[in-house]
Formats: sequence, structure tokens, C-alpha cells
Amino acid sequence: MRMYDIIQKKRDGEALSTKEINFVIEAYTAEQIPDYQMSALLMAIYFQGMIDQEQADLTLAMAHSGDLIDLSAIEGIKVDKHSTGGVGDTTTLVVAPLVASTGVPVAKMSGRGLGHTGGTIDKLEAIPNLKTELTNETFIDHVNEHKLAIIGQSQHLAPADKRIYSLRDVTATVNAIPLIASSIMSKKIASGADAIVLDVKTGDGAFMKSVDDAKALAKAMVSIGHGVGRKTTAIISNMDQPLGFAIGNALEVREAIDTLKGKGPKDLTELCLTLGSQVIVLAKRAKSVDEAYQMLTVQLESGQALKTFKQFIRAQGGDPTVADDPDLLPKADYQIDVTSQKDGYVTNIVAQALGEAALALGAGRDTKDSVIDLSVGIVLHKKIGDSVKKGDVLATIHANDASVERIKKQILTHIHIKKEKPAELPLIYDVMTL
Ligand code: URA
Ligand code: CA
Repeated sequence: MRMYDIIQKKRDGEALSTKEINFVIEAYTAEQIPDYQMSALLMAIYFQGMIDQEQADLTLAMAHSGDLIDLSAIEGIKVDKHSTGGVGDTTTLVVAPLVASTGVPVAKMSGRGLGHTGGTIDKLEAIPNLKTELTNETFIDHVNEHKLAIIGQSQHLAPADKRIYSLRDVTATVNAIPLIASSIMSKKIASGADAIVLDVKTGDGAFMKSVDDAKALAKAMVSIGHGVGRKTTAIISNMDQPLGFAIGNALEVREAIDTLKGKGPKDLTELCLTLGSQVIVLAKRAKSVDEAYQMLTVQLESGQALKTFKQFIRAQGGDPTVADDPDLLPKADYQIDVTSQKDGYVTNIVAQALGEAALALGAGRDTKDSVIDLSVGIVLHKKIGDSVKKGDVLATIHANDASVERIKKQILTHIHIKKEKPAELPLIYDVMTL
């Protein structure tokens, strides 16, 4: 088989066979195909797309390029949840214990943040002494015992995807739906999920800026899941403004704790109940999404979800009393209010810009090796649709350096205030399944 012929075939709009896709991924991972040929193929895929069978083949080939996590020692249906990346997206910290509290096993591998979006592993490290490096054996034991464990992603998960992603990054081929869909799904499959719930974000702060693009990505991932024998449900959710109020690691842990106590922000709570319900249905613990939703509402109100979160913290070496006293979390030295300069309604909170402001405070990573400050970030006091008076606090900056004028300006510029009350935005646009 020759890479040249495969590039030509895709360039001319033909579908590649399973054998051809396996050849490309194996040979590229083994460094037998040079980057210039792989780049040409990626660009051909960018323009010509892929049919369902090709996307499923590509996903499986990348999943099989490294470790395949075996979760068969865990009883029950293992459902994974994945978000395509948002700002202030604290859902995993809530959904994981919420679902686990009903007895559904949650064996979660999460990543660290890069750029303006945060990562669950970083957030968890804000909890004093909590460890996210467990051996696979301990990980599985914890899930069997407490129904919940969360660890950092194996370094050897889908290495083909890692190499291809780096190449896409420098060849303007990141934004191709078949490539994004197979990239995400390959890692979910390699990490051992039986079924997958996806939260595809759309809006300013997301990869997919339009609802139609988000639906196309969701559809591609649902059909890949189906094609490789994993039930997959995707919800399309709004990321036109940050989720909840908090952006920043310790601040988001605090927000997750509030949510687990039933006192969280409305949008975060609603999204967690929606995602959690889909997980419960795929895990076959409820017959309908409505039944699952009721069940999870009870788990929040009864304190069971919070109890599961505390057990999880203790099991992973952390201090569970943070759940009763969130002041034990790392705290920034300065809290600086950003106040409105006019009366009106909040019409937009540019999620990406707020994420970047939090990054500038030190809450995120510019490069893979940056060290992050777990205590800093931004807490919003207003959301889209709220009325404000001149002088009202729009947001509070949590910083370890008092000179935050530039960041204050950035936040003010990106919280838009107009005379007219804006139309209400849906939080969930659609739920896609096969
Ligand atoms: N996230 C991924 O893991 N891969 C992509 O290609 C895009 C987002
Ligand atoms: Ca948040």
C-alpha cells in the first residue's frame, strides 16, 4: 500500500477502506509516513470529508494505537461523559458524584486544561491533598467500592491522535468535523467506556460557533459510537456565556459543592441534571429521561450526591471537610470588584474573553508546561438577561497580584450592557441519539 495512492484517492473524493485507514494510522504512529504526506491527507479529509464507515474506522484505528483501558473488572455499564470544552464548565465535578450516588459506576479519566478552557484534574487538585494518580488496580477497586474514581488520562492513550492533533494544529486542519469527532471518540473508546454521553458546546466560547455546526459534530460522534458498538447520546448546550458564576479552579470546586448541596447556579444545575439523566438512561438505571431526572433531583436534595463526593475525596487522599467548609480551599489574596458603568440589561458575556481573562490571572495554562494558580479566577454576579444599575458589581476578580487594571478592562469590555432586555437563550438546544 502506498501513502501517495491513499492521498490521491481522498483528494478525488473517494472513501478509504478499513485496510487503508489502518495502514495510515499504524504507519504514521510508527513514524514510517512523513509529516508532509500526513498533512496532505488531513487537508484532503478537511475538504472531502469522510463517510460514517471511514470515521468509525479512523476512530478505532486511533483508539488501538496505544493503551486500551480494561474496565471489565467493574460491574455494571460504564458510562463516560465528555464535554467538548467550555469556560467555567464545572459539570464533571457535579455529574460524576451525582450519578455515582445512584449506584452507577463512574470510572472517569480526565484531562488538564489548556488555553482558555479548564480541566477537571486541575480543579480537583485544588482540594487539599487529593491525588489523581492512582494505579489502574486502585482505580478499579475504588470504583467497585465507592462507585466513583477520577484519574488523569494515561500518557499512552491514543498516541496516534496525539501526533495527528499536533500536526492539525499547525496545518489549519483542526476544524474538520470527521477529525474532531474521531479524535474525541478514540480517547473515549480507549478509556474503556461502554456508553458515552457527550456535551457538545456551541457559541462564542466553543469550538463550534453555530448550532448547526454543533449538531453536525454531535451527529458524527453519535454515528461513530453506534458504528463501533458504543451507545452514544449527545446534547447540544449553550456556551454563549460562561457556565455558572465561577471561572477558575478552586472557585469552580466551591461552585460544584454548592451545586451538590442543591444551591448551585440555575444553568449549571440544569445542565448537570440533564447530562446525568442521559447517563442514568444509558446505564439502564431508569426507563426514561424524566424518571432519571426525578431520581437525580432527589439525590441532590437528600444530600446523597454530596455524601458520595465526600467519600470520593477521602478515598483519593483529600480532605472531605472542604465540602462542609469550602474556605479550606486555596484562596487568593485580593478580591477586586468590577462594577457597571451604566444602567441596563446584560446582553452578552463573551465566554472566550472571560476564559482568557482568567487565564491571564494564572488560572490556566498558556503552554503545556505552565504552572497554574489554583486560587485565582473570576466570579460573575450577573448573567445574560439580568438588569443592572450603574455601580452594581458585575464580577469579582480573585487575584494574587493587586494590579489587575488590564483584566478589569477586559472583563468590562466583554460584559455587554444594553438598554433592551435580550431574548432568553435556551441552555439545551437538542439531544441526539440513534
Ligand atoms: N478535542 C479533541 O480531543 N480533539 C479535537 O480534535 C478537538 C477537540
Ligand atoms: Ca462555572
